[in-house]
Amino acid sequence: MIRQFPVEWDPSFATGIPSVDEQHQQLIHILNLLAATVETGPTPKQLLDIVAQLADYTRYHFTEEERLMEAMKYPELEEHRLEHQTFINQIELFDLDAILATEGLASEMLHFLKTWLCDHILGIDQRLGESWRCHQAVLSTDS
Ligand SMILES: [Fe+2]
Ligand SMILES: [Fe+2]
Repeated sequence: MIRQFPVEWDPSFATGIPSVDEQHQQLIHILNLLAATVETGPTPKQLLDIVAQLADYTRYHFTEEERLMEAMKYPELEEHRLEHQTFINQIELFDLDAILATEGLASEMLHFLKTWLCDHILGIDQRLGESWRCHQAVLSTDS
């Protein structure tokens, strides 16, 4: 088993936004699939496919979160969007051939992905969750 994998869903990850929490669970699931794939000594195509799946789902999730922030007129939207964009840029820079050919690089990639995602979910996404819950409370008192 690769160190620190599989990542388990933890209640502290919850933002309270149902769609976001569901997407975060799916992201962690794909990340665990990637770790399991790395462990089997994948072909370049197998590694490429699972990394592409993670990148695609990450893009989808970020777009959904940004749409939500726009709808809420969330003041930290630009700062949050920038974090998302930086992460996507980093994933796009992964050199999968080098990762397959170099001992230790796949674990480094997994460690980077895990750390980034957990820190993001536990940090800036939690702030979004708090704001969303306030937003919902205001909406329910308005109606
Ligand atoms: Fe998120
Ligand atoms: Fe986010």
